[in-house]
Amino acid sequence: MRNSLPPNPQIDANGALTHLLSIDGLPREIVLNILDTASSFLEVSDRDVKKVPLLRGKSVFNLFFENSTRTRTTFEIAAKRLSADVINLDVARSSTSKGETLLDTIDNLVSMHADMFVVRHVSSGAPYLIADHLNRLGRSDIHVINAGDGRHAHPTQGLLDMFTIRHYKKDFSGLRIAIVGDILHSRVARSDIRALSALGATEIRLIGPKTLLPAEMDIAGTRVFNSLREGIRDCDVVIMLRLQSERMNGALLPSAREYFNCYGLTPEVLALASPDAIVMHPGPMNRGVEIDSEVADGPQAVILNQVTFGIAIRMAVMSLLAGN
Ligand code: CP
Repeated sequence: MRNSLPPNPQIDANGALTHLLSIDGLPREIVLNILDTASSFLEVSDRDVKKVPLLRGKSVFNLFFENSTRTRTTFEIAAKRLSADVINLDVARSSTSKGETLLDTIDNLVSMHADMFVVRHVSSGAPYLIADHLNRLGRSDIHVINAGDGRHAHPTQGLLDMFTIRHYKKDFSGLRIAIVGDILHSRVARSDIRALSALGATEIRLIGPKTLLPAEMDIAGTRVFNSLREGIRDCDVVIMLRLQSERMNGALLPSAREYFNCYGLTPEVLALASPDAIVMHPGPMNRGVEIDSEVADGPQAVILNQVTFGIAIRMAVMSLLAGN
């Protein structure tokens, strides 16, 4: 009989994390455990010897079938700080270009004694396919982390965003959070919305043009605004998103200049938010398209701190998956 993924493939019968595929379906206690564990890892980066032995002897394979700067690099740093052996598959030079299937690639890497796969893929669901395949092989000892699949999910980005918000704002209750821009194509927005709901944020506002907002059922529990000036008013956290033109079919906007005029975050627009609002962006940023340089480099921006926190979050996720 087919031994496919259980209803919640991320959690085993004892309630432990087995894969990190999405924030959807992740119990609130596990989300909080990841954030708390990441807090304990922050100080490792300040040590002279930036290493702990929690993944010593384990092999972590970074499989990035789509480009990345922040996620790939911080996963590598995180795994090395946990003392794992890290193998970065060079996809452009791999046998994928000769027609090898994703699952044949996985089978070969399993034969090389992989313990963990960190997967970014242009296709939504690719990390689930790998987790399902491992499950059918009876390899529950090998863990899969979704590092971004299509427009579906980017759970470690969602978690590091929550870590950042908690770091600056302490508590999610009472917070008004704006997510601005191309929400339709954004896996980050989907993961952030799920995480913010799990953590009890008071108000999640989705701000963007009608053509870049998802269908109604995707955005339950949120308030939608088509005007940035209206939506940003009194917000405590502003999360800006890039226009993901690589995922757009056809023109959804008149022009980048027009977009910036309506949805670009300038100092004048940011002044409408709460005076101590923080500005976040998952990166990569397009200056002059969704964000003005004066804001991106200004005192309210915590964008580079998000990157630093990403190392601690990824250490926490890998460490918990390895059973620590
Ligand atoms: N935030 C993020 O996923 O950035 P990269 O594409 O550089 O990994």
